[in-house]
Amino acid sequence: MRTLGVPRDARRMSTLVVSPSHHPLVGSVPVPSDKSVGHRALLFGAIAEGTTHIEGFAPGGDNLSTAQALRAMGVDIAIEGASAIVKGVGLYGLVAPTASLDCGNSGTTMRLLSGLLAAQDFKCSLHGDESLSRRPMMRVLGPLRSRGALVDGTPHPTKQGEITAPLSIGPLTGDSYLGPIEYENPVASAQVKSALLLSGLYAHGVTLVREPHVSRDHTERMLHAMGAPLETFGTLVRLDPAGWDGKLAAQKLVVPGDVSAAAFLLVAAQLVSGSRVTVRHVGTNPTRTGILEILRDMQAGVHVEAKGEVGGEPVAEVHLHQTPTLVARMIGGETVTRAIDEVPIACALAARASGRTRIRDAAELRVKESDRLATMATVLRAFGVKCEELPDGIDIEGTDAPLRAAVVESHGDHRIAMTAAVLGLIADGPTRIRDADCITTSFPKFVGTLRALGAEVSVEA
Ligand code: S3P
Repeated sequence: MRTLGVPRDARRMSTLVVSPSHHPLVGSVPVPSDKSVGHRALLFGAIAEGTTHIEGFAPGGDNLSTAQALRAMGVDIAIEGASAIVKGVGLYGLVAPTASLDCGNSGTTMRLLSGLLAAQDFKCSLHGDESLSRRPMMRVLGPLRSRGALVDGTPHPTKQGEITAPLSIGPLTGDSYLGPIEYENPVASAQVKSALLLSGLYAHGVTLVREPHVSRDHTERMLHAMGAPLETFGTLVRLDPAGWDGKLAAQKLVVPGDVSAAAFLLVAAQLVSGSRVTVRHVGTNPTRTGILEILRDMQAGVHVEAKGEVGGEPVAEVHLHQTPTLVARMIGGETVTRAIDEVPIACALAARASGRTRIRDAAELRVKESDRLATMATVLRAFGVKCEELPDGIDIEGTDAPLRAAVVESHGDHRIAMTAAVLGLIADGPTRIRDADCITTSFPKFVGTLRALGAEVSVEA
């Protein structure tokens, strides 16, 4: 098997043109560093004591939004090559930003910062791009308010009673303080959980968060390793700052590769006949590996070779040797929580499976960077794949036939753009994905990586 370097991509990608793949995809490639772990390494490093060294850091635009916001509050963050150095200012060392903090396209930046900033003695505001300015923020602001935070937002343009960005947060001054909270979240959400835990570091009293299934637990792992007084019991997380010295210890962290980015390459390899692809250094935290189980369950040729742990997170080489038959399955329940960002690319897999794949319990997809159930249904139909959109999921009829080459809009959603690119590999002619710049938010070298594996992809400005 070839081991390939990945060429640099052009900075701006307007339209991607993907040609049908007449040859197998072959090679061994890296992926960008895990976006979720990257946000947390920057944020927690910023409020730690001492210098946090982050290795293996290959960030997309979302992580850079977090870094910029922290810099605007006086945190010295140097990013060079694949390393970042964050000079922690301690729990109480952030300074008031002089302008509104720009969270770009990143919901994680906005929601985690809301929790952190709700506890500060200065006022600030947060804004984002068009997509972020439609995403629901009440899920974070509601519980933060109930513990005494001064947080507000902008009435949602279409959902009555909902609040969205821009947000206005704080200040917590005089004798106001954050109190204890026992919060039973109706949806599994790592962003809500993390915002409450971050505010809990500063609170008078215990923070208890329970969720229906365990959402990604990077916050718990990292905060615990840094010395925060936090424990988990199944779906319950408890943080009790009583008796704690209020100090997070800076760490040397290695960020694993992003399994959410790897998913596009693994599914691409399963769709293109004869492919043999390895993705190196992939994070395989069990709260994130739903897509690997979906691949295995649908009889794709996936093999996970464990390679130990980095920074408290398991990593592996993930191999995909294409198998001739894919079988449709039911995908629902807690698997969806553990594959929440991978449902779009799982839809691409379903397009090639024999039978009807049923995806359920996925209503959360409607409030991601786009309404991903609606945008995926549009994309699948554009390729000639039959599907039925449901309130909390989608049914997809798999087909053996070449897909119809399509012109697809990304709707500004990186995961929709990349899923369409993967489907384009098995279409009957060139596929065009418009408004594909958004891919840089999570996978800046996506095009280069596909090319390194042998795919024919070009970029039109
Ligand atoms: C994330 C949590 C998930 C995920 C998002 C990243 C995180 O969102 O969809 O891409 O890093 O905490 P929810 O917490 O809203 O499920």
